[in-house]
Amino acid sequence: MKQIIADDYEALSAQSAKLVIEYIQQKPTSVLVFPTGNTPLGMFAELVSAFHRKEISFKNCYLIELDDYFNIPLSDYRNLYNWLDAEFISQVDIPAKNIVRFNTASAEPEQECARVEDVIKNFGGIDLLVLGLGPNGHLGFNEPGSDFESITRVITLSTASIKSSAQYWGKEEEVPPQGITLGLKTLSSARHTLLLVSGREKAQIFEATFQKPSTTYLPATILRQFKNLTVVVDKAAINLSFG
Ligand code: PGA
Repeated sequence: MKQIIADDYEALSAQSAKLVIEYIQQKPTSVLVFPTGNTPLGMFAELVSAFHRKEISFKNCYLIELDDYFNIPLSDYRNLYNWLDAEFISQVDIPAKNIVRFNTASAEPEQECARVEDVIKNFGGIDLLVLGLGPNGHLGFNEPGSDFESITRVITLSTASIKSSAQYWGKEEEVPPQGITLGLKTLSSARHTLLLVSGREKAQIFEATFQKPSTTYLPATILRQFKNLTVVVDKAAINLSFG
């Protein structure tokens, strides 16, 4: 594991974007998995700026959604794909045919999950996975208790995730109770992973992720088994005495 300590959120965003750009320059046909949430927003802004400066093109990349809510319409304001689209996809040149979004309204959840697993296989696997760290240690919507061997599936969100997601949608009652997520085994097969951790409120879970015994009750502890993991963390998140 490689750890990059950024002075602040701005530096974290710039450094993570730089790593993504370097990766794509090396492999223009990269299969990417990007998260939503607050943490990657600065990185997306940096990537969009770099695209406008013509420093990077995504035209040969593939992009797979990490997770989404489930049992909500595709047009729903909480649909995470729509968030990713607004912040990144619609602002760069990645072709629509190269994008894999979850059908969050599917009446056949098992088939929908199998479809996404098949797409990943057909693409030749994930090249670059970018992850945020859930306040409860979830990765994507792999909530505490998720098996390290889990693949893409529909899951009931934990109380902690509903609470933390309320910040995006105003109140807890607005947070859809179900999610669809790439599984932990699916994620662990990525060739490279970039974990972004920012802010004092992540300091404790960040420390636990790499110091506490590995357990399914802290899904992020599986990261220690990942090959080619780079952690970009800001000073506020690295130690409770900072920030
Ligand atoms: P955040 O969410 O980036 O908004 O902190 C991370 C997560 O819940 O995975």
